[in-house]
Amino acid sequence: MTRLDDLGYPIVVADDATPELASFIRERAYKRVVVLADQKVARRAHGIARALRAQAEVLVFPLGERRKTLRTLERVLEALAEVKADRTTLLAGVGGGVATDLFGFAAATYMRGVPFVAVATSLVAMVDAAVGGKTGVDLRAGKNLAGIFKDPVAVFCDIGALRTLSEPHLREGLSELVKHGIIEGDETFDSLEVLAAHSLRKWPWESVIADSLRVKAMVVADDRLERGAREVLNLGHTFGHAIESVSNYRVSHGSAVAMGLRASGLLALRTGRFSASEHMRVLALLALLRLPLVTPFDDVDALLAAMSVDKKTRGGALRFVLPRALGDVEYGVTVPSRTLRAVLGRIRETPGAAEFR
Ligand SMILES: NC(=O)c1ccc[n+]([C@@H]2O[C@H](COP(=O)([O-])OP(=O)(O)OC[C@H]3O[C@@H](n4cnc5c(N)ncnc54)[C@H](O)[C@@H]3O)[C@@H](O)[C@H]2O)c1
Ligand SMILES: [Zn+2]
Repeated sequence: MTRLDDLGYPIVVADDATPELASFIRERAYKRVVVLADQKVARRAHGIARALRAQAEVLVFPLGERRKTLRTLERVLEALAEVKADRTTLLAGVGGGVATDLFGFAAATYMRGVPFVAVATSLVAMVDAAVGGKTGVDLRAGKNLAGIFKDPVAVFCDIGALRTLSEPHLREGLSELVKHGIIEGDETFDSLEVLAAHSLRKWPWESVIADSLRVKAMVVADDRLERGAREVLNLGHTFGHAIESVSNYRVSHGSAVAMGLRASGLLALRTGRFSASEHMRVLALLALLRLPLVTPFDDVDALLAAMSVDKKTRGGALRFVLPRALGDVEYGVTVPSRTLRAVLGRIRETPGAAEFR
């Protein structure tokens, strides 16, 4: 078990989160717990409830990105009212990033806010979604457009749950691991290079996840409400979100972020910030992890249009997060539009000698 305390609430990474959660609840003397679960992890949620004995009940909801809506939120809130949850009830949200975002939002709004613990069961939720206090749902107009900052009282990364997670869903989290590796540099990046040669099923997940979380937790601790420094966590995401949107969401978030990490490295290289050798290391790592590097379309104008609606735009100018080196990432960077266009054209091609010209 590894425990991080950088954010004022415990983040516990454990092979089996159930006993850890049970002792946390005993210590804090919560009298009643409602376990809210994504249907895909209902068995784990029932296991948690059994460990908590009479104090807990389980409410299960079919989730998935398409159900990350105000409608599902309403169902969750109505269900809470039906079981007469009150302000002292602890809500435990079990599942992937959709579950932690949506149940966290429910906890923030039910009776104007009840305590919430996130039990993360997907890699994305463990290294990203469950930590940092952003909760919310999608609107028709776009992803995560309705939500609120709500800190959980604790986060549990339930590593054992990864055994039932599909390989594509596991892979979704790898791009965020690489992103944290670039932000932190040093051993965090080096160890990913070593691990990338081994089968994912054999990775020492507890230390990998704890290392990656430490990076996110430290950045968030400095800037909880995303006024500045937290922007570094958007590395690869200005490009990534545009790629997702132009592909009509056929390119998954993790894949789009991998392409976006390539694009930001290349843009940094071409604006004289990043070295060719470090850009090459990032590309090699992404490739070893079998993450895609090439966009499946070459509509540069569509990508530019999609980027211009990015949440981080200020006064019309696109601002990028770019690496200066592994372990040194800069935010709020504006770049010449000619260079940007060239980069968007390049990521349509397989990396090769032209990448470094
Ligand atoms: N709040 C944040 O800061 C933040 C950060 C990153 C991502 N997110 C959000 O997270 C979501 C993506 O997260 P995700 O990839 O975990 O998606 P997800 O929650 O939809 O989970 C992916 C799939 O795996 C299933 N699943 C989850 N855990 C499982 C397990 N242990 N065994 C078997 N199946 C399991 C889910 O039912 C789903 O089908 C997006 O909505 C994104 O906006 C939020
Ligand atoms: Zn992301």
